[in-house]
Amino acid sequence: MPLARMAIDTERKYGKISDDIYLMYIRAAGLPIITIFFITALIWQCLRVYTDIWLQQWSDVHGRVASKGHVVLHPSEQDHEVTYYFRMYAAISCVCIIMALVSTPAGQYAGCNARRNLHDKLLQTILHKTLHFFQVTPLGRIVNRFSNDMAVIDKKIAATGQRLLQFTLLCLSAILINVTITPWILVLTLPICGAYYLIQKFYRCSARELQRIENATNSPVISHLSETIQGVTTIRAFNQQTRFTEILFKRLEANTIAYALLNTSHRWLGVSLDYLGGCIVFVATVTALTAASVSCRRHYEATTSPSASASPSPFETYAVTKSPSELRPSPSLVGLAINYTLLVPIYLNWVVKLLADMEMYAGSVERIAHYAQGQDADADTDADVDADLDHEPSSNEDVSAEVDRSSQSDAGDKVYPGATTAAGDVDEDGDQQRNGGARGGGGGCGDRQGHENGSEAKADKLNAGNATGDGNHLNIHHPPATAGDKVEQVTTKTSVIKDKQLPLQQDDKDKKVVLPNEPARKLERYQSVPISWPQRGDIHFDNVSLRYEGQKQNVISNLTLKIPAGQRIGICGRTGSGKSSLGLSLFGVLQTTRGHIYIDDVDIQRIRPDELRTRLSIIPQDVHLFNATIRENLDPHGYFQDLQLWNCLELAQLKEFVNGHLPLGLDTMICDGGLNLSAGHRQLLCLARAILRGSVCLVLDEATSVLDSSTESALLKAADLAFRGRTIITIAHRLTTILDYDRLIVLDQGRIVEDGNPRELQQLEGSVFRGLLEKGASKW
Ligand SMILES: Nc1ncnc2c1ncn2[C@@H]1O[C@H](COP(=O)(O)OP(=O)(O)OP(=O)(O)O)[C@@H](O)[C@H]1O
Ligand SMILES: [Mg+2]
Repeated sequence: MPLARMAIDTERKYGKISDDIYLMYIRAAGLPIITIFFITALIWQCLRVYTDIWLQQWSDVHGRVASKGHVVLHPSEQDHEVTYYFRMYAAISCVCIIMALVSTPAGQYAGCNARRNLHDKLLQTILHKTLHFFQVTPLGRIVNRFSNDMAVIDKKIAATGQRLLQFTLLCLSAILINVTITPWILVLTLPICGAYYLIQKFYRCSARELQRIENATNSPVISHLSETIQGVTTIRAFNQQTRFTEILFKRLEANTIAYALLNTSHRWLGVSLDYLGGCIVFVATVTALTAASVSCRRHYEATTSPSASASPSPFETYAVTKSPSELRPSPSLVGLAINYTLLVPIYLNWVVKLLADMEMYAGSVERIAHYAQGQDADADTDADVDADLDHEPSSNEDVSAEVDRSSQSDAGDKVYPGATTAAGDVDEDGDQQRNGGARGGGGGCGDRQGHENGSEAKADKLNAGNATGDGNHLNIHHPPATAGDKVEQVTTKTSVIKDKQLPLQQDDKDKKVVLPNEPARKLERYQSVPISWPQRGDIHFDNVSLRYEGQKQNVISNLTLKIPAGQRIGICGRTGSGKSSLGLSLFGVLQTTRGHIYIDDVDIQRIRPDELRTRLSIIPQDVHLFNATIRENLDPHGYFQDLQLWNCLELAQLKEFVNGHLPLGLDTMICDGGLNLSAGHRQLLCLARAILRGSVCLVLDEATSVLDSSTESALLKAADLAFRGRTIITIAHRLTTILDYDRLIVLDQGRIVEDGNPRELQQLEGSVFRGLLEKGASKW
């Protein structure tokens, strides 16, 4: 699949990890805490080294006192000296401990911040991706980001960062001490450090790519496993176990080879650095000992020279009495240098290994950044496609500004969708401006029963136990005041929001906004719609051309269609003629390359997609249910009371089933996305969800294709009843089910070829629809 291939290629990165990725991590961790961590770690390390130097000085002084046998210090002076050195040593150690106590938690806290922020960022980004993204991105890869990559960020980066800083500082101090004691070691150290640099560079380049390959080969294993588990019944039915096992083995093998190579590279590094470390120890020890022996020889020559024994000058007297600790370098310094030198190879090994590890781990941040920044890439791809397209006058073109989601009024989000049509809009005085149903019909169960002077009005009484299903007693939009058999509805106070002016204000026009992860909708100046929108359900496709994101061909071309409010319209046409695309276009899923789609005179391209999608309802062919209770599936936000849920279930003809067959009623868990319910029950539950939402427009996209004819007619009857007086667009599965609809259109290659009353079209000689009916087909 070329699209999928494209997605794979763009995600595989090559070469050095950019500094921006490290900066992104540091920003996610928080600059202040990183600074505190760095400074305290620096002080801690300096003091750690200084305690060793202090010990060395202490032992030097002690040695000098001990060797000056003829210069007898008073015991109190000796005590004073010991106490002084001890106290200083204790004080330095204490500060050292305090710094460690600050530095380590600061490092962990920074890591904690980073992992939380990056995870949130990834989650937010993925949740806001377009449908196109999920079509071209294998699920395994997304799972991999959240599992493997997040695990690396979670467990590795902070710890590795801390150790890297610690070993780098130790290494620098070891080199510094050696250079201070015997400066000419620098001459030998420099080429050895150069060799280290070359080895680590070679290793890091290889390890980085090997790690990427390992990661890239891991995703297919996860994808294959999850796909296999999902389709295990089909695989068994077609006896394809061997094929699937072989594919799994092949993918596992590829992953294992990559992993083995990665591990081998680690071992190679270990062996190389050990050899190099041996060289360093040898060179440093030899230089320190040579320096010490040269100093000793000078001392010996000074003490045994004839001039020294004849008439000693004051200076010579000093030379004679000079103790070994006064030699340069003193034995204790040589000891310190050798001690540190022995540690240098170990530290350097760690520094190189940790640097490489850090780079590999940063790959995880890079992959997450790829999603976070994918928006730009998507936009670029989009721009390319645009450039390739024949230059159609797009509705997008005349809108240049982009709009900020956050700057929009969130009124629509804060109030549950049902309230959109529920309580109507009430002015500041509490007067209900809009009363009742969109289409006047007062008898419909889904119709909003109007009340004059609505703020004071009391709604119909609901009787949960005796709800009959004709809907006359139901006003699902008004939360009942009490939970009892008889419930008095009250006007929803959350809807004290005035309808806003629909045309854009000048201020709005100047507002610039960036809509994350909706690259397909580039226009992007969103206007806020009133909470009551859409009130009528008037739909108007005005010379519309539509295409899917990333595609060059339009699936709907120059389509003009007016669906008056409350009309029940059926759509039929051959497979691939664009029926579903037309339905989905109302939800802003497709890109509009020409024309406009208006719902209640509002161009839907100017409405935030998430807002738009909460105002309409669709029952697709494949219904998705969550692994949650029936109640949570119906009302995920918990806006409605049980009475309302039961009434909706009754309207969807599910009340009896939930009440009688499910032991826990509304609290029954739906497992595995609804697999413990029949397909028909899932569809009906979805219908109940749509009824509860109270949208004035319902799209049924072959919603009954998996149902037997009696359940199908039950569902359609239920939908008709619940949505009486509202706009219903039905993409027909069986043409006979839409014969009594108000209107029917036949689509072919994204264009309307027939439009009229179904009965009239049935009678019309030579009509496409009649032909279809005669063939008994829904598509041709
Ligand atoms: N997600 C998608 N990405 C790209 N192209 C798509 C996508 N979905 C559908 N198409 C293309 O759009 C065209 C119309 O598809 P659509 O699903 O609207 O047809 P349909 O009339 O609903 O068919 P069916 O009766 O089989 O459901 C087809 O050519 C199809 O290949
Ligand atoms: Mg379809």
